[in-house]
Amino acid sequence: MTIRAVVRGVGHYLPERVVPNSEFEARVDTTDEWIRSRTGIERRHFAAEGETTSDLGAKAAEAALADAGMTAADLDAIILATSTADYTFPSAATMIQEKIGMTTGFAFDLQAVCAGFVFALANAHALIQSGQARRVMVIGAETFSRILDFSDRATCVLFGDGAGALVLEAAEGTGTPADRGILATDLHSDGSYRDLLYVDGGVSTTGTAGHLRMQGNQVFRHAVEKLAQTAHSALDKAGLTSADVDWIVPHQANLRIISATASRMQVPMERVVVTVQDHGNTSAASIPLALSVGKERGQIKQGDLLVTEAIGGGLSWGAVVMRW
Ligand code: UT7
Repeated sequence: MTIRAVVRGVGHYLPERVVPNSEFEARVDTTDEWIRSRTGIERRHFAAEGETTSDLGAKAAEAALADAGMTAADLDAIILATSTADYTFPSAATMIQEKIGMTTGFAFDLQAVCAGFVFALANAHALIQSGQARRVMVIGAETFSRILDFSDRATCVLFGDGAGALVLEAAEGTGTPADRGILATDLHSDGSYRDLLYVDGGVSTTGTAGHLRMQGNQVFRHAVEKLAQTAHSALDKAGLTSADVDWIVPHQANLRIISATASRMQVPMERVVVTVQDHGNTSAASIPLALSVGKERGQIKQGDLLVTEAIGGGLSWGAVVMRW
């Protein structure tokens, strides 16, 4: 008998304020045309003043609980993937725990930047397979608008705020790829690429939150190569191939990266969930947002074989294969 981590519910939350590309034309030397053609982004959401990452995460978590037909008391753990926690400590995960009224179990933040949700899924999978938890809420929530340098046209146009969440529950499987739930995970980091994508501040350096810095074209090059590799390796571990994939649910950083990865995997774009046009890059929130929107659109259905893949600061990257 194999224990699988099966998705029972999914939900998301986006802040009210929608920021179209045209708003950036007034702030920096850019055009809507450049942003659309180079990235696929048309708009993004920005959190309101005073609205924090744990506020967004709690709303996504509540939506996922409602979708699962569960309450906070049913959960054993919360893992929040974020790089933009409300405070240095406590973890934003414990703040979400309090906001949704969960008084038992445990909660913690996980930081792997844009790959955070993939890393969080792998950790939830391990907690469930080891028997430490039966029901885990996995959240990706970010307020990247708070760490953007609005005078840097190369980065400020790319990111947005939002949150998505999944409820995973232990279920008995047969040990074959026909099982529902997480079937394989594949994680990587290489800290020698730190300077390609980082925030120039922090607790034990500047004592400030800092701003995001990126050598975009270098990250692009790594993304195109590493995402297809990690997706293939996760499929291989699951005993599957690209031909078995119903949906690629990629990290939403750039439409050109998404389509280059799909092409390397020989999966047509009709089988890729794309939300980057509406959300921009929401870092660790982008995959659960895409899962939730993909389900709402009627794209993702029970029994579908999904591959999620992401890369971000670190560099850190990875993929998860799951049957919905
Ligand atoms: O989620 C974490 C991982 N992050 C990513 O995956 C992001 C990966 N990188 C990218 O998505 C792309 O590299 C970018 C969208 C960031 C940039 O696209 P690119 O095609 O790689 O452009 P580039 O950086 O090579 O810049 C090309 C030109 C430059 O001008 P020159 O030097 O050719 O005169 C830039 O200064 O585009 C210029 N540029 C802009 N022009 C108008 C950069 N940003 C802008 C802008 N508006 N907002």
